[in-house]
Amino acid sequence: MALLPIIEYPHPTLKKVAREVDLAEINDAFRKIIADMIETMIEAPGVGLAAPQVNISKRFFVVDVSNYYPDRKPFVLINPVILEKSGRQTFEEGCLSLPDFREDVERAKKIKAKYLDEFGKEQIIEDEDFLAIVIQHELDHLDGIVAADRISPMKRMMYLTKLKKMTKKADRAPVAL
Ligand code: NI
Repeated sequence: MALLPIIEYPHPTLKKVAREVDLAEINDAFRKIIADMIETMIEAPGVGLAAPQVNISKRFFVVDVSNYYPDRKPFVLINPVILEKSGRQTFEEGCLSLPDFREDVERAKKIKAKYLDEFGKEQIIEDEDFLAIVIQHELDHLDGIVAADRISPMKRMMYLTKLKKMTKKADRAPVAL
């Protein structure tokens, strides 16, 4: 297994709509990348990591919510699609690709989604809590959207100004690696 470098905003891959994974692509080599992504996410540490964040513009992400759902091991969602969503919840989100980002983001409370697992088998997932937030956050990454795009223009401008200053001074700790 290997740790993968996590790219940061405004890297162009983070702004691209990622392409679907073909069933034929889901083989041992692909599962090795999934294992590396899970290791990278845990090491970061993070609760989710989308393929575009390790510069792979394909529609899959890994999730580790074992701190909140003890029965759930880290897992992958390939080609996820939200089938139903309802309600609203707000959570202070961070992102491994957005240094120092911490803002309230509003998302659906309850979601139902389908995805393929690491063997290409279709699965259905439903949640109305933290996992629902993580899935929506990671799904955004597959559509070229970051959490900073989900806050008010004023707050986004303030964050981007702060990010520019941090990059210039290079006074922030590196994220993962
Ligand atoms: Ni993120």
